[in-house]
Formats: sequence, C-alpha cells, structure tokens
Amino acid sequence: MTYKLLFVCLGNICRSPSAENIMNYLIEQRGLEGKIICDSAGTSSYHIGASPDRRMQAAAARRGIKLVGQARQFAPSDFETFDLILAMDRSNYRDIVRLDRENRYEDKVRLMCDFASQHRDREVPDPYYGGEAGFDHVINLLLDACDGLLEDVLK
Ligand code: 4NP
Repeated sequence: MTYKLLFVCLGNICRSPSAENIMNYLIEQRGLEGKIICDSAGTSSYHIGASPDRRMQAAAARRGIKLVGQARQFAPSDFETFDLILAMDRSNYRDIVRLDRENRYEDKVRLMCDFASQHRDREVPDPYYGGEAGFDHVINLLLDACDGLLEDVLK
C-alpha cells in the first residue's frame, strides 16, 4: 500500500515544492521509494506551470537537495487522492478547508510545523519577499518537519 502526501503553500514555487523534494530525499535515504508518494500544490493560480523559485532552488542546493517539479493549483479532488495534506501556514490551511464544502476531510489536513521537533515555528514563513536567510530558514525548518512527518507516517 502506498501512502500519499500532498504539501500545499500559496504559490507552489517556494515552500511546498521544497517540502515535497526534501521528503523524497529522506524517503530515498531510507529506501522507502514507492511506499510513500509525495506531491505539492498551491492554493493560488499565480504560478501554474512554473519551476521552483531560483532563490529556493539555491537554498535547497546548499543542503544538497535538488528541487524539481512544476507548479499546479490545489483541486478539491486532491482531498480524495491524498491520505494527508500538509499546509505550510494557517492561511493555506484556511484556504484548503474552505474547499471542503461538506467538512468531510478536515482530519486529513494538518499544519506542517506540527511535525517539527527542533524548531518552535508554528508556520513555515513565506520567504517570497524576503532575503536569502529566509529561504535557508525554510529549508532547515522543512528538514526538521519532514523528519518528524516521516516518523509519524511510518508508525
Ligand atoms: P510559496 O511562496 O507560497 O511558498 O510558493 C510564494 C510564492 C509566490 C507568491 C507568494 C508566496 N506570490 O505572491 O506571487
């Protein structure tokens, strides 16, 4: 059986593609390919089809992680497709559950930072309008949260 994870942010060019690719990196390290499947999406349509942001790619590369993928928008059908949907911040969380018209999938939607153990952040901050340090922080926070998430999924 495969467990399906969907990471969601606003644009699907910074935080959620990083989470997706970091998770795949950890899955590969553990030899769990095929057991857990990852995807990412944005709540907005702003960047549909775009590659991950260059500044985000650079921050990921500093930790040895390559970012691949093209942005897509979150769709209500994702509630059925995925076992767990990880929102990067509370605004993403609200935008996702708003699309769950009959409140059937709330248990599948969680905040990414709930799985972090080394950081006290409650949200993955939007790095888009900030400097390089913000992008590095996103990668460090996501490495922590993805570690915790992987442990949780394996339980
Ligand atoms: P993301 O970052 O949600 O982590 O992909 C952003 C990307 C684009 C914008 C905002 C946040 N934007 O306003 O275009």
